[in-house]
Amino acid sequence: MLQETITRDQPLRRWEDYVVPQCWEAFSADDHAVWDLLFARKVELLGSRVISPFLDGIDLLRLSHPGVPDVEGLNAILEPRTGWRTVAVPGLVPDDIFFAMLSERVFPVGNFIRKRDELDYLEAPDCFHDMFGHIPMLAHHDYAEMTRHVGELGSAAIAADQGHKAARLYWHSVEFGLAKEQGELKILGAGLASSFGEAHSSLESDKVERLPFSVEKAVHTSYTHDAFQQRYLVSASLEQTSSDVLALTPETLLAL
Ligand SMILES: [Fe+2]
Repeated sequence: MLQETITRDQPLRRWEDYVVPQCWEAFSADDHAVWDLLFARKVELLGSRVISPFLDGIDLLRLSHPGVPDVEGLNAILEPRTGWRTVAVPGLVPDDIFFAMLSERVFPVGNFIRKRDELDYLEAPDCFHDMFGHIPMLAHHDYAEMTRHVGELGSAAIAADQGHKAARLYWHSVEFGLAKEQGELKILGAGLASSFGEAHSSLESDKVERLPFSVEKAVHTSYTHDAFQQRYLVSASLEQTSSDVLALTPETLLAL
């Protein structure tokens, strides 16, 4: 997830400098139990509210052991499918680092999980959000390529001091997008798929706006980090949005 919008005045950094060992052995028995509880509750709550590629990819997270997935085990399954791999990070990474990772098919996952007393509310994304929300879809070829391309667009936009344009595009598709699937409204974004309250309200509340997704609309629609979204963009289909985003050049993005 994005942390902040930075400008090119800040020094260039390497994304590798933000990677830490996951230290899977350091997760406690209760940490693993929290993962299992969240996983079971979330799969049941989502039901068929999420687009089908997400449900197809969920088995990626069921490794040979229960509890929090280990990044090596996950990568051994994910990388042969779409070339994506995960790396552990200690928390949110800056936007330029995040987009640089995406552009190289690297997805950062927190090396920590929420505690039992914060199951439903979380101030910063933990490994449940990062893995449960994002990894299933990164096994889907079109989505995986769209996400990589958003990383490239993001790096170019930040270099031009227009990082917010790529951040909004990312937000309204990968993170908080909705999508139509065979005429039904479904969850597309990882922030919704991994949320306990917003998953339902994004689909069912009559107090939010749902507008058709377009690249241009996404770039011109603001979002909020710390509350439920007031408006969602609805992709006509995952294939359409993937295709529209992949066709977007940095020059076109910057001109929007
Ligand atoms: Fe996220």
